[in-house]
Amino acid sequence: MVEYSLRPALEVESDVIRDLIHLVGINPTGLDWRRFLVAVTPQGQVIACGQLKPHGRDLLELASIAVHPEYRSLGLARAVIERLLDGSPRPLYLTCVSSLGPFYERFGFYALKPDEMPRYFRRLSQLAGLVFTLAKRGETLLVMKLQ
Ligand SMILES: CC(C)(COP(=O)(O)OP(=O)(O)OC[C@H]1O[C@@H](n2cnc3c(N)ncnc32)[C@H](O)[C@@H]1OP(=O)(O)O)[C@@H](O)C(=O)NCCC(=O)NCCS
Repeated sequence: MVEYSLRPALEVESDVIRDLIHLVGINPTGLDWRRFLVAVTPQGQVIACGQLKPHGRDLLELASIAVHPEYRSLGLARAVIERLLDGSPRPLYLTCVSSLGPFYERFGFYALKPDEMPRYFRRLSQLAGLVFTLAKRGETLLVMKLQ
């Protein structure tokens, strides 16, 4: 059990969010603090975060879901995701490594075939460097959608 509250990020937390994203090793681009939801301990430590990230006017991505390693498997990611999904526009997209597919399916996301992907995500999923890096870990990149 961990005591925390969920709230929109503050400007002073911008660097902390960036540090958390770097620590967990996910996409470090497009980290505008104004879009972020954070989970914060009573002492003010940011222990998890996530955002809804727009790509142009039509695409919205559930992104930057990150939980500090010391606070994993406590339901923090689930809490952040459920709050972000609550009342958000649809459809919503995300990208993740294939091993996380079942985790996101629990929220109603399903994996898209290449010909079902919006162009932005299809091109992303075909980036040679990314495909190669993931293949070395026995993973593929999933593009998932929530209607
Ligand atoms: C993935 C991540 C966000 C999960 O955070 P969390 O707070 O531990 O997740 P929850 O407690 O809400 O849910 C835990 C469940 O998620 C699933 N899960 C978590 N990490 C997983 C992984 N690497 N592979 C497969 N399933 C995973 C499991 O089903 C797990 O259940 P368990 O705790 O009984 O094993 C966290 O491990 C993390 O920050 N990872 C690094 C960054 C990342 O990959 N972010 C996702 C980008 S798409």
